[in-house]
Amino acid sequence: MTEVLRVDPDRPDAAAIARAAECLRSGGLVAFPTETVYGLGAHALDRAAIQRVFAAKERPANDPLIVHVGSVDEASPLVTAFPDAARTLAARYWPGPLTMVLRRSAQVPDEVTAGLDTVAIRVPSHAVARALLDASRVPIAAPSANLFSRPSPTIACHVLADLNGRIEMILDAGPTSVGLESTVVDLAGDVPTVLRPGAIDIGSLRELLPNIRMHRSTGGPSDAAMPSPGMLVKHYAPRTPVILHAGDRAAALRTMKQNAQQRIHAGETVAVLTYSEDVNEWRSSLPVRIVDVGSEADPPAVAARLYAALRECDELNASVILVRSMTTSHPLSNAIHDRLRRAAAS
Ligand code: TXA
Ligand code: MG
Repeated sequence: MTEVLRVDPDRPDAAAIARAAECLRSGGLVAFPTETVYGLGAHALDRAAIQRVFAAKERPANDPLIVHVGSVDEASPLVTAFPDAARTLAARYWPGPLTMVLRRSAQVPDEVTAGLDTVAIRVPSHAVARALLDASRVPIAAPSANLFSRPSPTIACHVLADLNGRIEMILDAGPTSVGLESTVVDLAGDVPTVLRPGAIDIGSLRELLPNIRMHRSTGGPSDAAMPSPGMLVKHYAPRTPVILHAGDRAAALRTMKQNAQQRIHAGETVAVLTYSEDVNEWRSSLPVRIVDVGSEADPPAVAARLYAALRECDELNASVILVRSMTTSHPLSNAIHDRLRRAAAS
């Protein structure tokens, strides 16, 4: 059985944190909230604990984990060098939703990095994550706390739905605020490269590192050019197939409706993941199951609800989930589009 401990998101109870920290230190698996999504934590220097993370998630061993630490100082034993570019980004964005890939030291087990000579490191800002790092006094390896290829968890129920009975404990502090995973930046090569778009957009990073670029796999449809062995295109996906409709609002709605109509005619059940602005449009036209993901004019709200909404769509047992690209321009738009594209990849 997995134990769920409720904690205050801003001022977590010290006794609950102490129990979770003890559990981690002795090789247990503890899911905990970060500002992005819930992570599945394990003692990063304990090989057996790391192997249990992969088993619990059914995650392929070639998909490396992010190591969470409390500060730049705690990161330094894990890397061979902390380049100037990393110092610059850390000063501005740590603690926060930024992960940096750096050359790893011998301290980091191969199991964590999938045998790569680099390690991904992040200093989270969520008070519960920080309290857990403080109390455990070990680096915590934590992938998102979902089964491999399911949407990342943004509330404790999602963790329980995927991992109940497979992990010792969940620290439940309510919904996470960002809702999408951290931005991953590779600083181990010659040119700083964004491997995964996230809450911190490339425009903001470019103000500090003018030569930073986007990895080509984050724009294209194929997974031929994976930036790391684990960065599969199909990811973050519900079980029901997702079809993403591109284009401006009117054109996308038109093709979505045609698609829905044909499927309903053929006896299928259709779910639509809609922006609030489109809800009436659907209500008044076709017998589809509607899940409202939030206002298109409020991208942070859409990001925060996206994974929960995808899971809700899945529970409708529809034959397909239809969704359209967000047309608003916002620092989060790229990350949201990336996740929709991955959810829709087959
Ligand atoms: O927001 C987040 O980053 C959340 C919270 C829990 O911190 N964690 C998370 O972990 O999303 P995960 O394991 O679901 O995603 C980690 C990503 C993967 O795409 C992996 O391929 C990449 O980071 N990664 C990890 N180590 C890497 C490395 N050494 N080189 C390149 N990519 C790496
Ligand atoms: Mg993940």
